[in-house]
Amino acid sequence: MGEHSTSSAYQASLPGTTQVVRRPVGSAETVGANRRWWDFAAADYQAEHGDFLRDVGFIWCPEGVDEADAGLLGPVAGRRVLEVGCGAAQCARWLVTRGAEVVGLDVSQAQLAEARRLDERTGVKASALVAADAAALPFAPESFDLACSAFGGVPFVADSAAVMREVARVLRPGGRWVFSVTHPIRWCFTDAPGPEGLVARQPYFDRRPYVEQDDGGRATYVEHHRTLGDRVREIVAAGLSLLDIVEPEWPADHDRAWGQWSPLRGRIIPGTAIFVCEK
Ligand SMILES: C[S@@+](CC[C@H](N)C(=O)[O-])C[C@H]1O[C@@H](n2cnc3c(N)ncnc32)[C@H](O)[C@@H]1O
Repeated sequence: MGEHSTSSAYQASLPGTTQVVRRPVGSAETVGANRRWWDFAAADYQAEHGDFLRDVGFIWCPEGVDEADAGLLGPVAGRRVLEVGCGAAQCARWLVTRGAEVVGLDVSQAQLAEARRLDERTGVKASALVAADAAALPFAPESFDLACSAFGGVPFVADSAAVMREVARVLRPGGRWVFSVTHPIRWCFTDAPGPEGLVARQPYFDRRPYVEQDDGGRATYVEHHRTLGDRVREIVAAGLSLLDIVEPEWPADHDRAWGQWSPLRGRIIPGTAIFVCEK
């Protein structure tokens, strides 16, 4: 899932990070910063969240929506699936156990190394793990039946419209593209899990990304914001149909927080949006 988004109390920061700002950041700086951050954080991230995600499990969001119950991708057996921003490939592995052929793609070599470690541990693995940027997919047109991303590349790129176009290009007609991101409304709030995170402080309409940077102004972590309408427009402009936007409610029996996603906030403000699209 995302780690910071609108935080002023950032958690794991790349050494040298001294500032949090909102400023425009282009594609190259964004990808470079996030690759370095995820390479730096991969092992700790998996140590902290791995048991919640499960080595073989498809969890869409901190609210715990499980693809085994939600079925947002539809039937997966026999389908060729691309997981964008796969991290340690927990979702890819679950899809393999359901009969899919899966390619996991991620920009971070350290996250892919975590994926290979879990492959060894579980004996279940994707057919390929590919290091690449979600906005430039190294695949032939119409080479996948389905694509998915659980908080994968979409929040971490400057040009998410390009990700939509790229996914639309590699999907076969009729194929689904389902991706989860931080719910856009969360960008109005500080990333605090407690009551201070319930006070709207930032304009929803401020599209400048959340940026951690060093003293030289070099980005060390970047998350990009889109409003709900922006996301819909990017999906439609890519030639995809939007079937649903799932806004998971916080389950009554779920008491585990994930950074800013806490039971307190989750019962009041949606924390995740899952977009279900079709080519
Ligand atoms: C929050 S994790 C999501 C993975 C997994 N679903 C999970 O919940 O742990 C975000 C992943 O997106 C990857 N990522 C960030 N920027 C990316 C980009 N431009 N292209 C592809 N993957 C990217 C990161 O390396 C990281 O593994």
